[in-house]
Parts: sequence; structure tokens; C-alpha cells
Amino acid sequence: MKKEPIIIGIESSCDDTGVSIIKNRNILSNIILHQEIHKKYGGVVPELASRLHDVNITKAVNKAIFSAKIRRHEIDAVAFTLGPGLIGPLLVGASFAKSFSIGLGVPLLTVNHVQAHILSHFIQDANLNKDYCPKFPFLGLIVSGGHTQIIKVNDFFKMKILGSTLDDSVGEAFDKIARMLGFYYPGGPMIEYFSQNGNNKKFTFSKPTVSGLDFSFSGFKSDVLQFIKNESRKDSFFIKKNLSDICASIQKIISEILLDKVKKAILKTGIFRIALSGGVSANHEIRRAFMALSKGNKKYEVFILKKKYTTDNGAMIAIVGSLKYKRNLFDSVHVSPYSKFKTF
Ligand code: KG4
Ligand code: ZN
Repeated sequence: MKKEPIIIGIESSCDDTGVSIIKNRNILSNIILHQEIHKKYGGVVPELASRLHDVNITKAVNKAIFSAKIRRHEIDAVAFTLGPGLIGPLLVGASFAKSFSIGLGVPLLTVNHVQAHILSHFIQDANLNKDYCPKFPFLGLIVSGGHTQIIKVNDFFKMKILGSTLDDSVGEAFDKIARMLGFYYPGGPMIEYFSQNGNNKKFTFSKPTVSGLDFSFSGFKSDVLQFIKNESRKDSFFIKKNLSDICASIQKIISEILLDKVKKAILKTGIFRIALSGGVSANHEIRRAFMALSKGNKKYEVFILKKKYTTDNGAMIAIVGSLKYKRNLFDSVHVSPYSKFKTF
């Protein structure tokens, strides 16, 4: 019988160094080294991120091999994020992955970061029901710091973008509003934390009016920032007094914006299977709103990820690597990372 391939996946497109080892689609290890330094800058500083990836990458790889209980020479291929993302951090991951594949004498597999977020639904770990992954076709909603897109997924490598943000991503909106409220980066989890027990109807903000399936978060974000500025001018304790209500209201409106667009995409495509991915899909209100859709009507099937697979991680890179390996979709060491989204 043919041996199941063991793939190492390396993710370094932003500020997390993620390394995972998988056998077929099963996770053997999944290591993430976070970079705390960006907290105080209110966002990721690319130069610092590159330097820290350089420091962390060997540690993360060694830890991943150790906790997978395998030996280096058992690895069948090296998969890594080629883009999109921050170019410095991507170059660190690419250089490491290329050298590692040459050193081990195994093939190299490049991975599109957005595709990896979508295909993270096919990761299998010990605590997951094997059948809990979407059947094709499905609608992928990717909501992260870098991307906000609705994608029609016909097959593993047949994807079509139906709508994208015209300006800021939803994660950027969360992070910039959070910064105004005095939170550290990344702000999304902080807004979620402080929204607990808040009144989500206390403040209303106008929703963007973008036709079709595209999104826009820049105007919404500016409205919120302007509102907070104006109110804080009248009462310097405005934020402090209303923090939970502000956070809960923002979260509710963002989840409504996302849900409205997905409902439009469902009407347009007749596809009732929806799979959420990306860091923002860790948000409990967004998860609740989408799950309510499937609870209210059995026609809908909604897939959400375990929280650790929503934000950037090596497992999603390894899973795409594994799928590519089986299709012999190997790459040469001459590939070059790219920062902007190109195509699937
Ligand atoms: O997918 P990700 O780790 O990186 C990118 O590919 O961008 O997403 C990071 C984004 C950040 O904007 C962060 O604030 C947001 O995901 N995020 C959240 C939550 N957890 C992470 N936003 C809202 N609620 C959360 N619980
Ligand atoms: Zn990401």
C-alpha cells in the first residue's frame, strides 16, 4: 500500500510563524509563534515582523517535528505560503522552505494564503468529526486582516471570486476602531471581549451601500471613528462609560453586513452551503449569526472552524500542500513571493 505523505506547512505571511506537520489530512503537530511586539504599535510593523520570523522559524520547525514524533527524513514535501502577504515575512518563509526542501531532497509546494484559509475546512484533527467538512460546491466567506471575499468553491483548486472589499478588509475595520478605543493590536479579539454584556442596539451606524457582492468597510470605519471623536469631545469619559455597548453594537452591525452579503450570494448562486474562514470568523457574534441561519432553516449548511484554525496557522498551508502533493502540483525553487492577491 502507498504510504500517506507527510507534509510540513510553513506560514509566514504576516506576524505569526506557523509550522504544522500533517499526514494525509491529519494533523500531527501545529505550532504557532506569535509576535507580541506589534501590540504597542497598533499594527504589524513589517521590518520587525521579518526579523522575528527569522528568529522564530527554526524554533517553530524543530518544535513541530518534535511534537509530531517524526524524524526529519520522513517528511515527503515542504509547503509554504508564497503570497499574498507582507513581502519581508514571506521572503523569510520562502528562503527557509526552499533551503529545507533542498536539504531534505524533497519537493517544494507553494500555497496561496487565501486558498489555504478556505481549504482549512478540510483539516482533520483528532477531535474533529471526519465528515464535518463542506461538500462542493460551497460559498467561502473569508474574513481576515488582509481579505474580505465571497468565493464560489467548485472544487479544491477551482475557485471563483464573487465579491471582494473595495477598500479596507473587515479585520482592518475591527483593528482601527479598536485602536481608537485604546486597545492593543490585534483589536478584533479585544472588541469581542469587551462586547460581553453590552447592549448591541444602543448605537447604530449606517451600513455601506455597495451594490452586488462587493464590500466596503472604509466609510463604516470612518463613521464610527467620527462618532467616537464627537462624543468624546462632549464627554471625555464617553468611551469608558459606554465601552461594552460600543463594542457590542459594532460587532452586531459588522455581522449583519457580512450576513446580508452572503444571503445575496446564496440567492444569486442557489448554493446554500457556507464556510467561514479567516481570523475574524473567530468572533462569537459572527459565528452565532451565521449558525442561526442554519438553525432556522435546514436548507442552509454553515461550517465554522475551530478557533485555532481561523487565524493564520501552518496547518492550513500543510493541508493545501497535501492536496497539491497528491496531484503532483510541485513548484521549482525559482518561484518568488508576491504581496498582492493575484488569482487562484
Ligand atoms: O486570518 P488572520 O489571522 O490574518 C490575516 O490573514 O489577515 O486575521 C487577523 C485578523 C485581525 O484583523 C484580527 O483583529 C481579526 O482577524 N480577529 C478578530 C478576532 N480574532 C481575530 N476579529 C474579531 N473577533 C475576533 N475574535
Ligand atoms: Zn490569513
